[in-house]
Amino acid sequence: MERVLPAPSRLYEWLRHVRTPSLGRIEEVNKELWLLLSLFSICLLLNYLVASQRLVLSFYTFPTLVSAYVYGRRHATLTAFASVLIVVLMTLQNPALLAATAPAAAWLDRWLDVTAWGSTLILTGYLMGTLYEHRSAQLRELRETYDGVLLLLRHFISKDKYTENHSYRVSVYAARIAARLDFSPARIEDVRAAALLHDIGKLEISRELLYKAARLTKEEFEQVQRHVDKGVEFLESVGGSLRRVLPIILAHHDKFDGTGYHPLRGDEIPIEARVISVADVYDALTSDRPYRKAMSPYDAKDILLKGTGTDFDPRVIDAFVEALKKGEMEVAFVQV
Ligand SMILES: [Fe+2]
Repeated sequence: MERVLPAPSRLYEWLRHVRTPSLGRIEEVNKELWLLLSLFSICLLLNYLVASQRLVLSFYTFPTLVSAYVYGRRHATLTAFASVLIVVLMTLQNPALLAATAPAAAWLDRWLDVTAWGSTLILTGYLMGTLYEHRSAQLRELRETYDGVLLLLRHFISKDKYTENHSYRVSVYAARIAARLDFSPARIEDVRAAALLHDIGKLEISRELLYKAARLTKEEFEQVQRHVDKGVEFLESVGGSLRRVLPIILAHHDKFDGTGYHPLRGDEIPIEARVISVADVYDALTSDRPYRKAMSPYDAKDILLKGTGTDFDPRVIDAFVEALKKGEMEVAFVQV
């Protein structure tokens, strides 16, 4: 099958797809719902346990703030309404609760007291939700700029189609292995960015040397090895969140037993680099090279398994095998 890159307009689609695995998102939302329900339960319990009802009313601010932070304006306003409804229903069922809020006041004044509290809570939810959505929109814009820079850098890397396609496929494979290892969406994003740029240092190496079919001399091999340090030198000047991927790029040829480019071993190597190392070798084995034809994914798996504990982290290999079984180590190719 001919391997081609997705059209630029579709790139954001796969960037989003890789960044947020749907299963992880559902688990995240469930955790958030549980948190909200727990906060509500605590408030309800305090209603009965704490003598000062005014103090209890202030606790109802927490579910509203959490809802604003997690879901935005609409849910925060609804959470505030739900809090007010709970307090009103509880007060109707037990008027003594409201009496404890303003004991000396008349019945109407006590209800006015609760109305003022409820309005403030709803307004707080609305405003906090609005602020949160505003901040999210700014972050989204920043993220799109970051993705744009990554795309530009990726095209910059590609003096030839193999390197460009290779970095794209490695980024997809590595992100899927990282998702299997339960990385957070932010760490998956770092893995993806580092994988896209892991060989940027090869810009400094001649194509003849990179694709030389014959065995490399010691000097030539050392020259190729230098692409790791050169890549870091290139990206150091970019700064920002790309700085987080520098240690990953630096270690992407380090081996689990310490016999790689640097003398790091085991957990000393960033886990993200250990993930990219497996994805990198898997893609190299399953691609046509000047000196051999592409292997099948299952032959490549056997070779990777042989390197478990020496070249590769056993935990990463387990995640890779799992991803391969689930059919995730395939890239959907879209004609440009
Ligand atoms: Fe490399």
